[in-house]
Order: sequence, then structure tokens, then C-alpha cells
Amino acid sequence: MGKKITDKVTWVGKVDWELKSFHGHEYSTWRGSSYNSYLIRDEKTALIDTVWQPYDKEFVQRLKNEIDLNSIDYIIINHSEIDHSGALPELMREIPNTPIYCTSNGAKILKGHYHNDWNFVTVKTGDTLKLGETALTFIEAPMLHWPDSMFTYMNGDNILFSNDAFGQHYATESLYNDLADTSEIYEEAIKYYANILTPFSKLVVRKIEEVLAFGLPLSMICTSHGVIWKNNPVQIVEQYLNWAKDYKENQITIIYDTMWNSTRKMAEAIACGIEEADAQVTVKLLNASKDDKNDIITQIFKSKGIVLGSPVVNNEILHSISGLMEMVKGLKFKGKKAAAFGSYGWSGENVKLLNGKLKDAGFDVVNDGIRSLWVPDEDELSKIRDFGRTLAEKMA
Ligand code: FEO
Repeated sequence: MGKKITDKVTWVGKVDWELKSFHGHEYSTWRGSSYNSYLIRDEKTALIDTVWQPYDKEFVQRLKNEIDLNSIDYIIINHSEIDHSGALPELMREIPNTPIYCTSNGAKILKGHYHNDWNFVTVKTGDTLKLGETALTFIEAPMLHWPDSMFTYMNGDNILFSNDAFGQHYATESLYNDLADTSEIYEEAIKYYANILTPFSKLVVRKIEEVLAFGLPLSMICTSHGVIWKNNPVQIVEQYLNWAKDYKENQITIIYDTMWNSTRKMAEAIACGIEEADAQVTVKLLNASKDDKNDIITQIFKSKGIVLGSPVVNNEILHSISGLMEMVKGLKFKGKKAAAFGSYGWSGENVKLLNGKLKDAGFDVVNDGIRSLWVPDEDELSKIRDFGRTLAEKMA
């Protein structure tokens, strides 16, 4: 059964407690996720978004338990990605002529995915759809995070249906932000922002300012993943504005991989040096072959600086570090400092290669880095601690 949100709005989505990865394996979802779909019943009835394809039959069956499908007058697709549109083919088999409201890019993408010429009605920012006492207003939000993305605002209940924006990959039966674990919600929200939205930060600021300028009253933000922001919904909007402006905390993150522990010993000595020079800074050490890549990216997002380490093998750095840096480069972090380190045996080009990766990814590399031949002894570890101390100053 659905869950009633207001007299007119019912949640009809799917909570996916088992989901552990998303976008193939590009995004870890340790706390599961949900695909939120909403039914609005006024004089006319509208369905906002659907669920991921593996749950299509379950979704349509549960929708049938809620309503006669033929009484759905409009389907609104805020975003074509298959976690929200995946149940459309199953649904459209039942109600093939129902109009689907989406952006023009949305219609193109839905046709590209499902190869059906459904009854698309394309909308632009400011277009409205009257349902009775209430009306929906559409707001295009291109590249937040796909070209087709849009928000739908419902007056009367004053709800913003924001799709991916302000969402979290977080499974909960509680539905509302004030009933779920706040620290977990924010961990998942910042992870989502860091891993998906960082490259679009300028657009995030512009879109939020545009929506705020409408002066619309806001009682709830109904996202398409995770909780509904009901208690002080503006808190997540303000947090997004904060995250979108080259966000950083007083944190330095040391990310490394190691073959025989020499680079690990260097990482630990650098951490000691940073802490000795600045007891206020948070220092975190993450091993790229043991820690989750998306969690590492979240820590990079929070950091004012990173220190990247790898030994050298066959004239290259380790693949865990090079793979991570491919992802980091695409995210276009801004305003972050960096340095490199690593052990070597003979060719020794690791630090030079690491510096190149860091510069390519837009980091401000603050020095030439530091290397250690074979295994660092006590004298060398002392020099590496000094290196950490200077880093704390350079990254202050
Ligand atoms: Fe939740 Fe971009 O899909």
C-alpha cells in the first residue's frame, strides 16, 4: 500500500534495502536506496515518476491496489534515468495513451531507452498543469544531473518534487527526515553531492537562486531517493548552496596504496607530521585498495588538501590510485591543494606521475613531493614527518 503524505499526495515508491551498488558498480550504496514515486489525487490524478525496472511489476501491482490505473490522467517524468522511468513500459502496457509530461530532452531520452512513441507532452520552465484545487508548475533543471532533469512544484500543498536533487541513497521506512537518523541522512546526502553533483556546482547555485527568486512557499521537498524533507526543508537547500561553493572543511586526507608497506609507513609519518604542526586539522588515512572509492571521494570533497601516495611498478603507479584519479578528474574539484609521495626501488617516477595526475585533476600541487628508496629507516621517517609539518603549513 502507498503511504499518505497529505490529503492529496500518496507515496507509491519502492524501498530497496538490498541495493549495494548503483550505476553498475560506479556508486556504492551501503545503506540501500529508495525510488520514490508519488500519486496526486485532485479532480485530476497525476503520477510523478516510477521506480527502477526490476521492481516494475511489483510497482504496477501496488499502484493497482491503490487506484484504478485508468483514472491516472497524467504521468510526470522529472528524469528519464531508469531508476525513475524503469517501470514505464510495464505501466504503459496498461494505460498506453496516458500523456507523459517531461522536458523535450526527457522525451528524446525516453524514446532512446524504450523505443516507444508514447503520448509525450513536453514542458518548459513556468508551464503549469491544473489538477483541480492544485496545479503543478514545471521547472527545468538541465544537468542536475542529466540534460532532461526537471523539478515539479505543487501549489496548495507547497511541495517541490525535486527528483535526484536533495536526495540520498538511503533505505528507510520512516519516509521523513525528522523520523530517520539525521547523521546517516547527511552522510548519504553529502556522498551523493560529492560523487554526482560536484561538476555541476555552478548550475546548482544558479538553479537554487532561480527557484528561491520565485518566492514559492515550501512545506516539503519530495525527493526521488531517500527521505522526504518535511522538517525545515530549507536546511538541505542551504546545505547544497554551501556544498556548491568549493566546499572544504579543516581536513587533510592522505590517500595511498602500498605493496610492501613502505608507502603505508610514509603515509603514517606524514599524518604524524601534519598533526604535530596543526593539532586542529582532521587527518584521515585511506588505502585506495581497501577503502571504498565513493567514500574516498566524499572525504576528498570535505578536504582542503589531499596527499596522494603510490609506489612504482613497471614505470607506473598502482591501478587503485590511477583508477581513483580518473574518477576524481571527472568531478572537477576546485580550490583544493595536494602533494604526492611514495616508495620506489629503481626507476622512481611515481611522484612525478602522481603530481601529473593531481595537476590534471585541477589540484594546486604545493611542492615537488617526497620519495623513499626501498624501506624508510628512522632518519628518513623523521624527514617524512618534517614533510608532513610543512604540508600542514602550506595547506593551512
Ligand atoms: Fe536517481 Fe539520475 O537517477
